[in-house]
Amino acid sequence: MTTIATPRTWSLETFTDAVGDAVWAPSIHNSQPWRFRHTCDGVDVLLDERRVLAACDHYGRMARISCGAAAYNLRLALAMTGLPAQYRFGAGRTLLHLWPDRLRRPTPLESRLHHQIPHRHTNRGPFADTPVDTAAPPRLSEAARREGGWLDFVADEAALNVVAGLVRAADAQLRADPACTAELRAWSVTADHRVEGVGPAAAGAAPHPDELLTRRDFGGPVLEMTRDPARRPVVAVLGVLGDGLEDAVRAGMALQCVLLTAADLGLATALYSQPTEVAALRERLRRTVDRLHDPQLVLRFGYAPRTCYTNRRPIADVIEP
Ligand SMILES: Cc1cc2nc3c(=O)[nH]c(=O)nc-3n(C[C@H](O)[C@H](O)[C@H](O)COP(=O)(O)O)c2cc1C
Repeated sequence: MTTIATPRTWSLETFTDAVGDAVWAPSIHNSQPWRFRHTCDGVDVLLDERRVLAACDHYGRMARISCGAAAYNLRLALAMTGLPAQYRFGAGRTLLHLWPDRLRRPTPLESRLHHQIPHRHTNRGPFADTPVDTAAPPRLSEAARREGGWLDFVADEAALNVVAGLVRAADAQLRADPACTAELRAWSVTADHRVEGVGPAAAGAAPHPDELLTRRDFGGPVLEMTRDPARRPVVAVLGVLGDGLEDAVRAGMALQCVLLTAADLGLATALYSQPTEVAALRERLRRTVDRLHDPQLVLRFGYAPRTCYTNRRPIADVIEP
């Protein structure tokens, strides 16, 4: 009788390939604050503390959301090998430890979401005035739930105006802070081939004073016609059932599950973290959506032409020896 040997963990080659998918996650200012370590029994996802934005992210919450999004990609990539991962939260800068679950085929949903990893991107261009398919919001909320999160759509016009007002107020407050502005400038890179930060093509046009949802100003050109044709943007607030640093990692996994689901549904996405970076405004946002726990991000969904993608650092730079 022949016995088939079960691999106990992922090979270094499989790990490196999976990291190649992980790095295409979104990250605050495209700072890519992650590192990955191949261990004797699995994989660690680590926070790269040198890349945490000191001015606008003192506690490293945005960096942890970014790492959680990368961890979700990593989990999908490992699932595609037939040896999916289980995970637990780590300590210190080790955010997550992943180890092999039982061998099984990837589900059709995992395959579809994995396929979207290189196609998903943050879209700072104008969105079309086409109503979002009514089947999409429940599927996006379900995606957040699968990863322990919640995604509340802001359906009511009055509430939408409140959320937009909080984005605007937070953006103004952050812009008035010289340290945050200097940080944003440092990550608003001047060439599109740079491997980190947001280049001119991905930055989109400079935010227009009349736009409902104030986009972050990554130094894009001032254009006359930047008005967004979408009359009623589809906006949602993402959170998880907790407010700790571990919860931020969980929020990142929920975020990436939502973003890949949106890409699978043909939807463009834009992210607004300004109101969750200012404590008092985050609290007002929490009350607006009537949740017990802090909101982590504001998201926008819609139809829009593809815009320019950002780049990533070489894989060797993010692998821990
Ligand atoms: C936690 C977090 C916060 C973000 N906040 C914003 C934001 O306020 N405005 C914005 O335009 N993009 C925001 N982004 C998107 C990043 O700028 C984007 O992911 C990064 O530049 C990489 O580009 P990509 O998403 O197209 O791959 C955020 C992303 C993350 C993960």
